[in-house]
Amino acid sequence: MPRTDADVESARIAVLPTAVADGIAAGEVVDRPAAVVKELAENAIDAGATRIHVRVEAAGQTLIEVVDDGRGMDRVDLPVAFRRHATSKLRSLEDLRTIETLGFRGEALASIAAVAEVEAVSRSRDGGEGFRVRIQAGELLRAERVGCPVGTRVLVGQLFYNTPARLKFLKQPATENAMISRLVGEFALGNPQIAFSLDVDRRHVFETPGTGDLRAAFAAVYDTQTATAMLSVEEATVRGLISPPALHRGTRDHVVILVNGRRIQHRNLVFAVEQAYRGLREPDRFPLAVLQVIVDPAEVDVNVHPTKREVRFRNEGAVFAAIERACYHALRQSPLYELQATSGGPMLELRETAVVSGAPSLPSPASGGGGVDPSGGGAASAAGVRGPAAAWLPRGRSSHGHGPDRPACRPRARAL
Ligand SMILES: Nc1ncnc2c1ncn2[C@@H]1O[C@H](COP(=O)(O)OP(=O)(O)OP(=O)(O)O)[C@@H](O)[C@H]1O
Ligand SMILES: [Mg+2]
Repeated sequence: MPRTDADVESARIAVLPTAVADGIAAGEVVDRPAAVVKELAENAIDAGATRIHVRVEAAGQTLIEVVDDGRGMDRVDLPVAFRRHATSKLRSLEDLRTIETLGFRGEALASIAAVAEVEAVSRSRDGGEGFRVRIQAGELLRAERVGCPVGTRVLVGQLFYNTPARLKFLKQPATENAMISRLVGEFALGNPQIAFSLDVDRRHVFETPGTGDLRAAFAAVYDTQTATAMLSVEEATVRGLISPPALHRGTRDHVVILVNGRRIQHRNLVFAVEQAYRGLREPDRFPLAVLQVIVDPAEVDVNVHPTKREVRFRNEGAVFAAIERACYHALRQSPLYELQATSGGPMLELRETAVVSGAPSLPSPASGGGGVDPSGGGAASAAGVRGPAAAWLPRGRSSHGHGPDRPACRPRARAL
């Protein structure tokens, strides 16, 4: 469909002036199927969706579909959305200081449409009919009226059909699927007010209720027992869930930190979480956490990297301290944990004891003795941790003959 300048001007979505576009961290972000899912899901969140459904087939190579019930786009906006630097979320570089949306570069849809066959169907909340466009290799092929509910559905097919180099670098389908599942799971945990669902190769992976209850979202993404065992973090600027010390994983992948709703990758802030567990965990075991950190947008620079997952803080030390403190407080209110010798010899176990009300501080991990519930009761049971399985054992010394990566409490995890 030919576009006129009048179309572009009348749209809420506008193409950024070159000076603004040049000031935004640019670069290719669509390097694998999970990146497509990320961009489409972020658009759905920015559109104020209350339900987001993600469907992938053949590890995203034949199909990625994201359906939302957000504000949708009208006849004018829908085709413009696929132009490079076309965005409704930012007009000037000044806006970056207060940006609250996940997207702002106006590049994602254009980048996806350049390497796949795309069909988008949308109907605006503001009224009017539904509209469908098809784009192939960045070229708009068809635009037509169509009956559809308010919201947007984007279908991406034949991903990387014209960029064989990128196809070559994709991992095994199971690995790509795992990345997608993890990503959607993290979106669901970061946005418990949105009902997320994920289908992979027609298999229903999970569905969150979208009630705003983080623990309920956590139960859907992991499982109820793990969710029940998680501890609430309830400070003014740091909120979420962290695992009790007896619940851990062999990687840091289960620490999800969001800053103003944006999932970020930040080694130092993950370390802040770990610091709160000082003395309560093995060096090669890591907690589970979902933490929402609220920071004045003017204090965070999100324009660092094209994926926007790296951010810079004006005062990183303060954010670090807030996270560590909030996690520490949550752990203080958890059941008491003590490290002690097992009857069998020098091997050490960490077991949960009964909740000790008014415990003044975290127990010293070296204190030993007293109050052990050998049945692994209390929160340990709630965590699905039974008997000796409630214990962590030093690396390579599991009495169950499992490798060191065996979690003390294995979730029926589907997404994460
Ligand atoms: N699911 C959706 N619902 C409503 N509007 C959408 C949706 N997806 C995209 N849009 C509109 O299309 C525009 C372009 O989307 P695109 O993802 O390319 O850029 P962006 O989100 O503005 O920035 P970024 O490149 O950082 O993601 C958005 O600014 C938004 O106005
Ligand atoms: Mg976007």
